[in-house]
Amino acid sequence: MSPRGRVLCVGLVCLDIISVVDSYPEEDTDTRCVSQRWQRGGNASNTCTVLSQLGVPCAFMGSLAAGRVADFITDDFSRCGVDASLVVRHAAGVTPCACCSLSLASGSRTVLLWDLDLPEISADDFSKVDLGPFRWIHWEGRNGDEQVRMIARVNEMNGRRDPGEAITVSVEIEKPEKLDTHQLMGHGDVVFISKDFAKHAGYDSAEAAVRGLYGRVKRGAVLVCAWGEQGAAATGPGGEVARSPAFPPPTLVDTLGAGDTFIAGVIAALSRGQSLQEALTFGCRVAGKKCGVQGYEGLGELC
Ligand code: ADP
Ligand code: FRU
Repeated sequence: MSPRGRVLCVGLVCLDIISVVDSYPEEDTDTRCVSQRWQRGGNASNTCTVLSQLGVPCAFMGSLAAGRVADFITDDFSRCGVDASLVVRHAAGVTPCACCSLSLASGSRTVLLWDLDLPEISADDFSKVDLGPFRWIHWEGRNGDEQVRMIARVNEMNGRRDPGEAITVSVEIEKPEKLDTHQLMGHGDVVFISKDFAKHAGYDSAEAAVRGLYGRVKRGAVLVCAWGEQGAAATGPGGEVARSPAFPPPTLVDTLGAGDTFIAGVIAALSRGQSLQEALTFGCRVAGKKCGVQGYEGLGELC
């Protein structure tokens, strides 16, 4: 492994309590589910899980409380080969938790998340991180103002390095209602936007969104938009639009974290020097495969 070969993902880790159901239940009913499990979740944490399976050495930075849930999460990072040494542990507070229902009938995932008890990673926390081992840092858009300050630190360091040694910055903007994350669009070398964000901005396809919103990214950046079963589109400084269809699995079983998986696939491919088109297609392939299995097992076979 190259000494600077690592990818760092900054964002949420939570406990996902997943109920697999035949079909999504009626409100105010009491039914039995098909199966239930605990799983480590959170966008940045899931992206790390998949990066690691794809053979990309990676580390996670986010907040955890004390206690058994946090221990379960820490053990799972280690089981998956994700370096969790940059996790900030808080003596007080509750580790974020999401109750997730996966419907076998429709393939939908419904999430109820509680993540308001722990402080987010701050620019001050990030200022203590040795950036030496990292070639790529990905931020899941959460506390946008602080995240812009963290990215400024990376840019400052990049300014002092040879261009070939620069750390690539990527950002994910997922939730239209999180207004302070919108500014991240102007700060990533690679900017991932969600279907929800694009729809909210008035676009009805991934291609229209990347064309229409490209003016908001920084010079030379790449803009990527995933669109569920319709695949994804991306564009870069050359202006041409890359597109990929989705790759539906034989049976749709678990779409929770499809977007996080897609991001991992794109980062893995781009960080290996593949073209934007190759990276987009690879991202969709890995995400499609993930939709055919419960959780994130067996994705490394695509490498
Ligand atoms: P999120 O999980 O953030 O809602 P999306 O639904 O946009 O993300 O999906 C991300 C990627 O996952 C898509 O670009 C596609 O490649 C893949 N994907 C999502 N849903 C399906 C599906 N039903 N069949 C095949 N691939 C899918
Ligand atoms: C999937 C996911 C889940 C988590 C939820 C948080 O993208 O990260 O693991 O419960 O989203 O919004």
